[in-house]
Amino acid sequence: MKRSKRFEKLEQMPINKDGFAYEWEEVGLVCMESPFDPKPSLKIENGVIVEMDGKERKDFDSLDKFIADYGIDVSYAEEAMAMDSLEIARMLVDIHVPREKIVKICCASSPAKVTEIMNHLNVVEMMMAQMKMRARKRPANQAHATNLDDNPVLLCADAAEEATRGFAELETTCALARYAPLNAIALMLGAQTGRAGTLNQCSMEEATELELGMRGFTSYAETLSVYGTETVLIDGGDTAYSKAFLASAYASRGIKIRFTSGTGSEVLMGSAEGRSMLYLEVRCLFLTKACGVQGIQNGSINAIPLVAALPNGFRAMAAECLIASMLNIEVASGNDTAFTHSDFRRGSKLMMQFMPGTDFVTSGYGGIPNFDNVFAGSNEDCDDYDDWYTLQRDMKVDGGIVPVKEEDALAARNKAARIIQCVFAELGLPEITDEEVEAATYAYSYKDMPPRNKAEDMKAATTMMDKGTNGFDIVRILYENGFEEVAHRLMEMLKQRVIGDYLHTSAIFDEEFRVISAVNDRNDYMGPGTGYRLSDERWARLKEKYSALKPKDI
Ligand code: 5AD
Ligand code: CA
Repeated sequence: MKRSKRFEKLEQMPINKDGFAYEWEEVGLVCMESPFDPKPSLKIENGVIVEMDGKERKDFDSLDKFIADYGIDVSYAEEAMAMDSLEIARMLVDIHVPREKIVKICCASSPAKVTEIMNHLNVVEMMMAQMKMRARKRPANQAHATNLDDNPVLLCADAAEEATRGFAELETTCALARYAPLNAIALMLGAQTGRAGTLNQCSMEEATELELGMRGFTSYAETLSVYGTETVLIDGGDTAYSKAFLASAYASRGIKIRFTSGTGSEVLMGSAEGRSMLYLEVRCLFLTKACGVQGIQNGSINAIPLVAALPNGFRAMAAECLIASMLNIEVASGNDTAFTHSDFRRGSKLMMQFMPGTDFVTSGYGGIPNFDNVFAGSNEDCDDYDDWYTLQRDMKVDGGIVPVKEEDALAARNKAARIIQCVFAELGLPEITDEEVEAATYAYSYKDMPPRNKAEDMKAATTMMDKGTNGFDIVRILYENGFEEVAHRLMEMLKQRVIGDYLHTSAIFDEEFRVISAVNDRNDYMGPGTGYRLSDERWARLKEKYSALKPKDI
């Protein structure tokens, strides 16, 4: 065939480097609206669910049973299930129906019922509903800080810059697992240097991550994965009970947690039981509720390349984040993993959570270059800050972060680098030189850092853990070495675990360590003039554009 020059050019566009697939419902390669999803049903006898979504109790697997026994409000289930799904879908976009009413219905519905409600909504309706249903009134954002070398000085400086930009939570992980304690400490120091009250986590294998939390090196955990079929859950070495137990272990030390799930993981792991991705994700969300966990990181997360390859991909991801909010749990709504070559497409995906706002608009904005991202590479990274800020300004939308001046970013980076230099010296860890402090202050990536002796760093990390070093030791070091302000902030983060208020749904801290959560900052959206509105002060910060012309320049 003689080729059209336009079709030839189109073929070369970035979008056509992405992978796409047709649906295959029988194996669960379908985002939503699958003919093989069960029909909603709940039968209750003497307060016990004896049938759920067409399955009798005797046929329940362990996941069905856990959800039925702990995840559904049976006291209201008959009323909720009797309501028409289309009617509930309409209530979601009706400004006269308060959030609480919908939460009550959804918490008393079966997974198939909630899935069916979503099938009635288009994406604009989901966005409307997301704005109303988000648990915390004020949206926020989370950032990744990692680098390919696990360089602790760079990590600490990056965390400080991110906290200065206003991220409420910072997350790291390791290229090499034995670096975990150093990465956790680096992130913690940078977080408190940049902005008091910034939460920090280090995503690792579960035992390590729990220990880092108990030592006082992290203040929350998020990557406690759950899956929507029993086979996949067991494949990951878990049961519903083991997850609930792990969640309780964190809670017992006053550490905030949320689970991680997301459409697509079960079919990727080869056991979707012929159900749609959204239906299985709804099961994860009910499981999260059943474990008593306050929040979820979802929106496909690592499975996004698969979900985005199918029809309804963005819509299903908007739906799963919305459902978390409908079940009254905090949602860190994805937009983290990179999934497309097209800037047009990645920006559009983001808008579904950016415009309405979620508890964390991204569950991992890469505040670092994409190649330094030891997670899977984010949908947004440090090169995109000015795009993000400009969109906030264009739309008068709060995406959770604020522009910063270069000198302020540099000052925070330098201070953080000096702080970690001091802490390493006092803990007897391998030296951090002045040259490294200088390099970390101005660096773009790991390539700008003098290389460290990794074997020595990792050995020292193990020795430090063996000695029993904890968060309070670091408070003392800072206090005794002229960094009183950051010492106080770290101490406050440790005290907060005893107070426990930040275990409430959707909790973050302001700079005075006041908890902002779904309890004291309840989303009361009921149409124009209600819900979250930017204060004049906040808007002044968000619309700041240092390069813009001022009247006197024109
Ligand atoms: N379902 C469950 N867990 C997930 N994670 C990422 N995506 C999913 C998903 N769709 C978890 C994994 C991963 C971490 C970053 O988050 O545990 O290691
Ligand atoms: Ca995250």
